[in-house]
Amino acid sequence: MKKKIILSSIMFIFLFCSIIYGAETVKNKKDSLDAKEVFEKKCSACHNLNRTTSTQKTPDEWKTTVWRMKSKKNANITDEEAEAITDYLSKTYGKKR
Ligand code: HEC
Repeated sequence: MKKKIILSSIMFIFLFCSIIYGAETVKNKKDSLDAKEVFEKKCSACHNLNRTTSTQKTPDEWKTTVWRMKSKKNANITDEEAEAITDYLSKTYGKKR
């Protein structure tokens, strides 16, 4: 009887871990894909997206701008989002040198 309980506990833990692991993998995949979505949602809260998409900046300049926006009152942008947005903007609206 005891053995059965131990065995099913192990099974349960195993199942639990694989669910967490699976969710984590999906989440990571989603993060890198959703940078555009995050940008469009967060950066249109206070001004038109044109303000961003009509500009070209170097990755460093984008970083400065995004973190400046992030620090504005009620910007509601997390560190992860700021990084994803910086990455996305540097690739999509990077300054050609
Ligand atoms: C809380 C409101 C708010 C949010 C959210 C916001 N901005 Fe802004 N943004 C402003 C204001 C106000 C200005 C004009 C004053 C200034 O430049 O600080 C501005 C100006 C800008 C400019 C022009 C000035 C420059 O430095 O080139 C860019 C580009 C810009 N924002 C990009 C973004 C991006 C990218 C995001 C998303 C990460 C974002 N903004 C999110 C308020 C916001």
